Amino acid sequence: MTTAAITAVGHYAPEKVVPNSYYESYLDTTDEWIISRTGIRERRVLEHGATSDLAVEAAKKTLAMRGIGPEEVDCILVATVTPDMFFPSTAALVQHKLGATNAWGFDLSAACSGFLFALATGVQFIQSGVHKKVLVIGADKMTSIMDMSDRNTCILFGDGGAAVLLEPNEEEGYGVLDWVNYLDGSGMEALHMKAGGSLHPASMETVQNKMHYITQDGKAVFKVAVVGMADVSIDIVKRNNLTSDDIDWLVPHQANMRIIQSTADRMGLDMDRVMVNIDRYGNTTAATIPSCLAEYYESGRLKRGDNVVLASFGAGYTWGATLIRWSI
Ligand code: COA
Repeated sequence: MTTAAITAVGHYAPEKVVPNSYYESYLDTTDEWIISRTGIRERRVLEHGATSDLAVEAAKKTLAMRGIGPEEVDCILVATVTPDMFFPSTAALVQHKLGATNAWGFDLSAACSGFLFALATGVQFIQSGVHKKVLVIGADKMTSIMDMSDRNTCILFGDGGAAVLLEPNEEEGYGVLDWVNYLDGSGMEALHMKAGGSLHPASMETVQNKMHYITQDGKAVFKVAVVGMADVSIDIVKRNNLTSDDIDWLVPHQANMRIIQSTADRMGLDMDRVMVNIDRYGNTTAATIPSCLAEYYESGRLKRGDNVVLASFGAGYTWGATLIRWSI
Protein backbone atom coordinates (compact mmCIF):
# COMPACT_ATOMS: atom_id res chain seq x y z
CA MET A 1 0.00 0.00 0.00
CA THR A 2 1.20 3.52 -0.76
CA THR A 3 1.78 5.57 2.36
CA ALA A 4 2.68 9.24 2.54
CA ALA A 5 6.14 10.32 3.65
CA ILE A 6 7.63 13.66 4.59
CA THR A 7 10.37 14.24 2.01
CA ALA A 8 11.40 17.78 2.99
CA VAL A 9 10.97 20.23 5.88
CA GLY A 10 11.54 23.95 6.30
CA HIS A 11 11.14 26.50 9.07
CA TYR A 12 11.03 30.29 9.03
CA ALA A 13 11.45 32.41 12.15
CA PRO A 14 11.19 36.19 11.68
CA GLU A 15 14.33 38.12 12.61
CA LYS A 16 13.08 40.28 15.47
CA VAL A 17 13.76 38.64 18.85
CA VAL A 18 11.70 39.75 21.86
CA PRO A 19 13.17 38.55 25.18
CA ASN A 20 11.18 38.24 28.41
CA SER A 21 12.85 41.43 29.67
CA TYR A 22 10.70 43.38 27.19
CA TYR A 23 7.57 42.42 29.13
CA GLU A 24 9.29 43.24 32.44
CA SER A 25 9.68 46.78 31.14
CA TYR A 26 5.94 47.56 31.18
CA LEU A 27 4.02 44.69 32.82
CA ASP A 28 3.89 43.27 36.35
CA THR A 29 5.91 40.18 35.41
CA THR A 30 9.47 38.87 35.58
CA ASP A 31 11.83 36.90 33.38
CA GLU A 32 12.06 34.35 36.21
CA TRP A 33 8.23 33.91 36.37
CA ILE A 34 7.94 33.45 32.62
CA ILE A 35 10.80 30.94 32.39
CA SER A 36 9.72 28.89 35.41
CA ARG A 37 5.98 28.81 34.52
CA THR A 38 6.31 28.39 30.72
CA GLY A 39 9.92 27.58 29.68
CA ILE A 40 9.91 30.55 27.29
CA ARG A 41 12.96 32.85 27.18
CA GLU A 42 12.27 34.74 23.96
CA ARG A 43 10.00 34.72 20.92
CA ARG A 44 10.13 36.04 17.34
CA VAL A 45 7.92 38.81 16.01
CA LEU A 46 7.07 39.54 12.38
CA GLU A 47 7.29 43.33 12.09
CA HIS A 48 6.11 43.73 8.51
CA GLY A 49 3.88 41.38 6.56
CA ALA A 50 1.37 38.70 7.38
CA THR A 51 0.94 34.97 7.96
CA SER A 52 1.25 34.22 4.23
CA ASP A 53 4.77 35.69 4.31
CA LEU A 54 5.77 33.32 7.13
CA ALA A 55 4.23 30.45 5.17
CA VAL A 56 5.93 31.38 1.89
CA GLU A 57 9.39 31.59 3.46
CA ALA A 58 8.91 28.18 5.10
CA ALA A 59 7.59 26.71 1.83
CA LYS A 60 10.55 28.09 -0.16
CA LYS A 61 13.00 26.41 2.21
CA THR A 62 11.09 23.15 1.98
CA LEU A 63 11.04 23.12 -1.83
CA ALA A 64 14.73 24.12 -1.95
CA MET A 65 15.60 21.19 0.30
CA ARG A 66 13.76 18.82 -2.05
CA GLY A 67 15.27 20.55 -5.09
CA ILE A 68 11.98 21.10 -6.89
CA GLY A 69 10.20 24.16 -8.25
CA PRO A 70 6.86 25.52 -6.99
CA GLU A 71 5.09 24.46 -10.20
CA GLU A 72 5.52 20.82 -9.15
CA VAL A 73 3.28 21.22 -6.09
CA ASP A 74 -0.23 19.74 -6.50
CA CYS A 75 -1.89 21.02 -3.34
CA ILE A 76 -1.19 23.58 -0.58
CA LEU A 77 -2.76 23.18 2.86
CA VAL A 78 -2.28 26.05 5.30
CA ALA A 79 -3.12 25.50 8.96
CA THR A 80 -3.59 28.84 10.70
CA VAL A 81 -5.81 30.80 13.09
CA THR A 82 -4.36 34.10 11.90
CA PRO A 83 -5.13 34.13 8.15
CA ASP A 84 -4.11 37.30 6.29
CA MET A 85 -7.84 37.93 5.80
CA PHE A 86 -11.08 35.90 5.87
CA PHE A 87 -11.00 35.46 2.13
CA PRO A 88 -9.35 34.65 -0.10
CA SER A 89 -7.61 31.90 1.83
CA THR A 90 -4.02 32.19 2.99
CA ALA A 91 -3.39 29.14 0.79
CA ALA A 92 -4.44 31.22 -2.23
CA LEU A 93 -2.03 34.00 -1.27
CA VAL A 94 0.76 31.48 -0.71
CA GLN A 95 0.02 29.81 -4.06
CA HIS A 96 0.35 33.17 -5.83
CA LYS A 97 3.44 34.44 -3.97
CA LEU A 98 5.17 31.09 -4.38
CA GLY A 99 4.29 30.75 -8.08
CA ALA A 100 2.75 27.32 -7.49
CA THR A 101 0.86 27.56 -10.77
CA ASN A 102 -0.42 23.97 -10.78
CA ALA A 103 -1.63 23.81 -7.17
CA TRP A 104 -5.03 24.13 -5.57
CA GLY A 105 -5.44 24.29 -1.80
CA PHE A 106 -7.22 25.67 1.21
CA ASP A 107 -6.87 26.83 4.82
CA LEU A 108 -7.64 24.66 7.77
CA SER A 109 -8.45 25.94 11.26
CA ALA A 110 -7.66 23.73 14.23
CA ALA A 111 -5.56 26.14 16.34
CA CYS A 112 -2.55 24.45 17.96
CA SER A 113 -3.53 21.10 16.39
CA GLY A 114 -3.77 22.71 12.95
CA PHE A 115 -0.60 21.15 11.61
CA LEU A 116 -1.61 17.62 12.62
CA PHE A 117 -5.12 18.06 11.18
CA ALA A 118 -3.62 19.38 7.92
CA LEU A 119 -1.04 16.59 7.84
CA ALA A 120 -3.77 13.94 8.18
CA THR A 121 -5.66 15.68 5.36
CA GLY A 122 -2.61 15.80 3.10
CA VAL A 123 -1.89 12.14 3.79
CA GLN A 124 -5.31 11.25 2.33
CA PHE A 125 -4.53 12.96 -0.98
CA ILE A 126 -1.29 10.98 -1.26
CA GLN A 127 -2.66 7.61 -0.12
CA SER A 128 -5.63 7.84 -2.47
CA GLY A 129 -3.26 8.41 -5.36
CA VAL A 130 -4.87 11.75 -6.22
CA HIS A 131 -1.72 13.82 -5.65
CA LYS A 132 2.04 13.31 -5.73
CA LYS A 133 3.21 16.45 -3.91
CA VAL A 134 1.30 18.12 -1.10
CA LEU A 135 2.73 21.07 0.79
CA VAL A 136 1.48 21.13 4.39
CA ILE A 137 2.16 24.43 6.13
CA GLY A 138 1.60 25.59 9.72
CA ALA A 139 1.94 29.35 10.08
CA ASP A 140 0.68 31.92 12.55
CA LYS A 141 1.27 35.58 13.24
CA MET A 142 0.03 35.30 16.82
CA THR A 143 1.13 38.86 17.62
CA SER A 144 -1.76 40.03 15.41
CA ILE A 145 -4.32 38.75 17.96
CA MET A 146 -2.43 39.31 21.22
CA ASP A 147 -3.52 41.81 23.88
CA MET A 148 -0.13 43.22 24.82
CA SER A 149 -1.53 44.53 28.10
CA ASP A 150 -2.67 41.06 29.28
CA ARG A 151 0.20 39.39 31.10
CA ASN A 152 -1.71 36.09 31.19
CA THR A 153 -1.49 35.63 27.41
CA CYS A 154 0.93 38.06 25.73
CA ILE A 155 4.03 36.37 27.12
CA LEU A 156 3.08 32.98 25.66
CA PHE A 157 2.96 33.42 21.91
CA GLY A 158 5.21 34.25 18.97
CA ASP A 159 5.16 34.36 15.15
CA GLY A 160 6.49 31.61 12.88
CA GLY A 161 5.96 29.35 9.92
CA ALA A 162 7.05 25.83 9.02
CA ALA A 163 6.23 23.37 6.25
CA VAL A 164 6.64 19.79 5.11
CA LEU A 165 6.34 18.20 1.69
CA LEU A 166 4.33 14.96 1.49
CA GLU A 167 5.02 12.47 -1.29
CA PRO A 168 4.12 8.82 -2.00
CA ASN A 169 6.30 6.27 -0.26
CA GLU A 170 6.59 2.67 -1.40
CA GLU A 171 9.06 1.53 1.26
CA GLU A 172 7.36 -0.79 3.72
CA GLY A 173 7.27 0.50 7.29
CA TYR A 174 8.30 4.08 6.50
CA GLY A 175 6.43 7.36 6.28
CA VAL A 176 3.24 8.38 8.09
CA LEU A 177 2.13 5.12 9.71
CA ASP A 178 -0.89 6.19 11.74
CA TRP A 179 -2.75 9.20 13.05
CA VAL A 180 -5.63 9.97 15.39
CA ASN A 181 -7.29 13.35 15.82
CA TYR A 182 -10.08 14.56 18.13
CA LEU A 183 -12.45 17.52 18.32
CA ASP A 184 -14.54 18.65 21.31
CA GLY A 185 -16.25 22.01 20.90
CA SER A 186 -17.37 22.08 24.53
CA GLY A 187 -13.90 23.53 25.21
CA MET A 188 -14.69 26.73 23.31
CA GLU A 189 -15.07 28.96 26.39
CA ALA A 190 -11.58 28.16 27.70
CA LEU A 191 -9.74 29.41 24.61
CA HIS A 192 -11.15 31.56 21.83
CA MET A 193 -11.26 34.92 20.07
CA LYS A 194 -14.62 36.53 20.68
CA ALA A 195 -15.09 38.88 17.74
CA GLY A 196 -14.36 39.32 14.07
CA GLY A 197 -16.48 36.39 12.95
CA SER A 198 -20.19 36.22 12.13
CA LEU A 199 -21.19 35.96 15.81
CA HIS A 200 -19.69 39.33 16.71
CA PRO A 201 -18.68 41.18 13.53
CA ALA A 202 -16.14 43.95 14.04
CA SER A 203 -17.64 47.14 15.48
CA MET A 204 -16.54 50.04 17.66
CA GLU A 205 -17.87 48.07 20.61
CA THR A 206 -15.91 44.89 19.84
CA VAL A 207 -12.71 46.90 19.48
CA GLN A 208 -13.29 48.91 22.66
CA ASN A 209 -14.07 45.72 24.60
CA LYS A 210 -10.86 44.06 23.33
CA MET A 211 -12.80 41.24 21.71
CA HIS A 212 -10.33 40.73 18.83
CA TYR A 213 -7.70 39.18 21.08
CA ILE A 214 -7.01 35.72 22.48
CA THR A 215 -9.20 34.95 25.51
CA GLN A 216 -7.84 32.11 27.61
CA ASP A 217 -8.46 30.37 30.90
CA GLY A 218 -4.86 29.18 31.17
CA LYS A 219 -5.43 26.86 34.13
CA ALA A 220 -8.36 25.06 32.48
CA VAL A 221 -6.44 24.60 29.22
CA PHE A 222 -3.35 23.43 31.08
CA LYS A 223 -5.26 20.65 32.87
CA VAL A 224 -6.92 19.18 29.78
CA ALA A 225 -3.83 19.62 27.60
CA VAL A 226 -1.66 17.55 29.94
CA VAL A 227 -4.10 14.64 29.94
CA GLY A 228 -5.25 14.92 26.31
CA MET A 229 -1.81 15.09 24.72
CA ALA A 230 -0.40 12.25 26.84
CA ASP A 231 -3.41 9.93 26.41
CA VAL A 232 -3.52 10.25 22.62
CA SER A 233 0.26 9.74 22.37
CA ILE A 234 0.17 6.64 24.55
CA ASP A 235 -2.77 5.28 22.51
CA ILE A 236 -1.04 5.64 19.16
CA VAL A 237 2.09 3.92 20.46
CA LYS A 238 0.08 1.01 21.90
CA ARG A 239 -2.20 0.49 18.93
CA ASN A 240 0.86 0.11 16.70
CA ASN A 241 2.25 -2.57 19.02
CA LEU A 242 5.13 -0.36 20.15
CA THR A 243 6.32 0.68 23.59
CA SER A 244 7.93 3.90 24.76
CA ASP A 245 11.33 2.21 24.28
CA ASP A 246 10.63 2.11 20.53
CA ILE A 247 10.03 5.85 20.29
CA ASP A 248 13.05 7.90 19.27
CA TRP A 249 11.35 11.30 19.35
CA LEU A 250 8.25 12.82 20.85
CA VAL A 251 7.43 16.08 19.06
CA PRO A 252 4.92 17.83 21.31
CA HIS A 253 3.14 21.08 20.51
CA GLN A 254 5.21 23.80 22.19
CA ALA A 255 2.72 25.60 24.46
CA ASN A 256 4.28 25.24 27.89
CA MET A 257 7.43 23.43 29.04
CA ARG A 258 5.55 21.96 32.00
CA ILE A 259 2.92 20.43 29.67
CA ILE A 260 5.73 19.01 27.51
CA GLN A 261 7.53 17.48 30.52
CA SER A 262 4.35 16.03 31.93
CA THR A 263 3.45 14.45 28.55
CA ALA A 264 6.92 12.89 28.35
CA ASP A 265 6.65 11.61 31.96
CA ARG A 266 3.27 9.99 31.33
CA MET A 267 4.67 8.34 28.19
CA GLY A 268 7.74 7.11 30.09
CA LEU A 269 10.15 9.08 27.90
CA ASP A 270 13.32 10.88 29.05
CA MET A 271 13.55 14.51 27.98
CA ASP A 272 16.51 13.69 25.73
CA ARG A 273 13.99 12.03 23.39
CA VAL A 274 11.67 15.05 23.31
CA MET A 275 12.00 17.86 20.77
CA VAL A 276 11.92 21.29 22.40
CA ASN A 277 12.32 24.79 20.99
CA ILE A 278 9.74 26.67 23.06
CA ASP A 279 12.55 28.50 24.89
CA ARG A 280 13.45 30.38 21.65
CA TYR A 281 10.09 30.78 19.93
CA GLY A 282 7.25 30.53 22.47
CA ASN A 283 3.96 29.15 21.19
CA THR A 284 3.68 29.74 17.43
CA THR A 285 0.42 27.72 17.27
CA ALA A 286 0.29 25.76 13.95
CA ALA A 287 4.03 26.17 13.37
CA THR A 288 5.45 24.57 16.52
CA ILE A 289 5.56 20.90 15.48
CA PRO A 290 6.96 21.31 11.94
CA SER A 291 9.48 23.88 13.24
CA CYS A 292 10.84 21.26 15.66
CA LEU A 293 11.03 18.69 12.85
CA ALA A 294 12.93 21.13 10.64
CA GLU A 295 15.42 22.16 13.32
CA TYR A 296 16.15 18.66 14.57
CA TYR A 297 16.48 17.33 11.02
CA GLU A 298 18.78 20.14 9.92
CA SER A 299 21.03 19.61 12.96
CA GLY A 300 21.28 15.86 12.25
CA ARG A 301 19.50 14.74 15.42
CA LEU A 302 16.40 13.45 13.59
CA LYS A 303 17.54 10.57 11.39
CA ARG A 304 16.17 8.11 8.85
CA GLY A 305 14.50 5.17 10.59
CA ASP A 306 13.60 7.12 13.75
CA ASN A 307 10.14 6.43 15.18
CA VAL A 308 8.53 9.80 15.80
CA VAL A 309 5.30 10.68 17.64
CA LEU A 310 3.86 14.12 16.89
CA ALA A 311 1.36 15.28 19.54
CA SER A 312 -0.81 18.35 19.87
CA PHE A 313 -3.50 20.03 21.94
CA GLY A 314 -5.27 23.28 21.20
CA ALA A 315 -8.36 25.45 21.05
CA GLY A 316 -11.63 23.76 20.17
CA TYR A 317 -10.63 21.66 21.95
CA THR A 318 -8.59 19.87 19.29
CA TRP A 319 -5.98 17.23 19.93
CA GLY A 320 -4.20 14.41 18.18
CA ALA A 321 -1.12 12.33 17.52
CA THR A 322 0.66 11.08 14.39
CA LEU A 323 3.15 8.22 14.18
CA ILE A 324 5.91 8.50 11.59
CA ARG A 325 8.91 6.37 10.68
CA TRP A 326 11.24 9.06 9.38
CA SER A 327 12.33 8.23 5.84
CA ILE A 328 14.89 10.90 4.84
N1 COA B 1 3.72 37.20 35.21
C1 COA B 1 3.48 37.13 36.51
N2 COA B 1 2.36 36.61 37.03
C2 COA B 1 1.46 36.12 36.16
C3 COA B 1 1.65 36.15 34.78
C4 COA B 1 2.84 36.73 34.31
N3 COA B 1 3.12 36.82 33.00
N4 COA B 1 0.59 35.57 34.19
C5 COA B 1 -0.24 35.21 35.15
N5 COA B 1 0.28 35.55 36.35
C6 COA B 1 -0.30 35.36 37.67
C7 COA B 1 -1.79 35.15 37.63
O1 COA B 1 -2.44 36.41 37.54
C8 COA B 1 -2.03 34.47 38.95
O2 COA B 1 -2.09 35.45 39.96
P1 COA B 1 -3.23 35.39 41.08
O3 COA B 1 -3.01 34.07 41.77
O4 COA B 1 -2.94 36.58 41.90
O5 COA B 1 -4.51 35.44 40.33
C9 COA B 1 -0.76 33.66 39.15
O6 COA B 1 0.23 34.19 38.26
C10 COA B 1 -0.90 32.19 38.88
O7 COA B 1 -1.64 32.05 37.68
P2 COA B 1 -1.94 30.66 37.11
O8 COA B 1 -2.90 30.82 35.97
O9 COA B 1 -2.25 29.72 38.20
O10 COA B 1 -0.51 30.27 36.56
P3 COA B 1 -0.14 28.94 35.87
O11 COA B 1 0.89 28.27 36.65
O12 COA B 1 -1.35 28.14 35.49
O13 COA B 1 0.52 29.46 34.53
C11 COA B 1 -0.05 29.68 32.20
C12 COA B 1 -0.23 30.24 33.60
C13 COA B 1 -0.89 30.51 31.25
C14 COA B 1 1.41 29.80 31.86
C15 COA B 1 -0.49 28.20 32.18
O14 COA B 1 -1.74 28.08 32.79
C16 COA B 1 -0.54 27.63 30.78
O15 COA B 1 0.45 27.54 30.12
N6 COA B 1 -1.73 27.17 30.38
C17 COA B 1 -1.88 26.51 29.08
C18 COA B 1 -1.88 27.55 28.03
C19 COA B 1 -1.75 26.99 26.67
O16 COA B 1 -1.07 26.05 26.45
N7 COA B 1 -2.42 27.63 25.72
C20 COA B 1 -2.25 27.40 24.33
C21 COA B 1 -3.13 26.39 23.75
S1 COA B 1 -2.47 24.83 23.82
